[in-house]
Amino acid sequence: ALPRDLEGRHVVISAGGTREPLDPVRYLGNRSSGRQGYALARVAAHRGARVTLVSAHTIDLVEPAGVRMVPVGTAEELRVAMLTESDGADAVVMSAAVADFRPVSRDDHKIKKSDHAPAALELAHNPDILAELIAERAAGRLDIRVLAGFAAETGDPDTTVLEYGRSKLARKGCDLLVVNAVGDGRAFEVEDNAGWLLGSGDIERQIPHGAKSLLASRVWDAVGEQFALDGGR
Ligand code: C5P
Repeated sequence: ALPRDLEGRHVVISAGGTREPLDPVRYLGNRSSGRQGYALARVAAHRGARVTLVSAHTIDLVEPAGVRMVPVGTAEELRVAMLTESDGADAVVMSAAVADFRPVSRDDHKIKKSDHAPAALELAHNPDILAELIAERAAGRLDIRVLAGFAAETGDPDTTVLEYGRSKLARKGCDLLVVNAVGDGRAFEVEDNAGWLLGSGDIERQIPHGAKSLLASRVWDAVGEQFALDGGR
């Protein structure tokens, strides 16, 4: 049986991949299945937490029982949902794959084959939601105890990916960062995951290859330790 160590905690998790519309039928998207975020939600609920799952696009997944679902489409919708839902949360885990760019303009009508092909697709930067949550917390406008992010990196999991992770943790300033190797059939679109769990205070743990629920358990273990330490910040 799982420990009920998250009883009385409210956790907010983002999952899936955002879709940035080009016209009513087309979008820019990514290969996120949503499985890792849903596993995080399911394990947290089993361990007693009150869970809000902000879900962008996923494959056809079963909604975790006893979890409040907040469906979103675009990065901007995800941003608004996270800023709204995160205040007062004990932990926020950003596992969604957020599009870094969106098309500058969105056609109201389906772009027809007979139309001239657009010479180029003009893109704009999306806001970095995790960075914004960290900044809002630092400014005292959002009350979040533990903030965790994910970093999907290509490269050798034992060396390159860990190096990327270390520098990203330092740069982002979140409390915990899960680094997972992607590409070559790893992490995205599959049932399993592996990587590193890095944290402020020299936390550096290898997460062995296994089910996404295993990685989720390791994340909640580390979050629980942060609660026990100083309650995050
Ligand atoms: O810097 P990078 O995009 O690799 O960071 C990944 C982390 O940042 C993930 O936790 C992801 O959910 C989050 N992110 C975000 N907003 C973006 C891009 C990524 O919150 N626009």
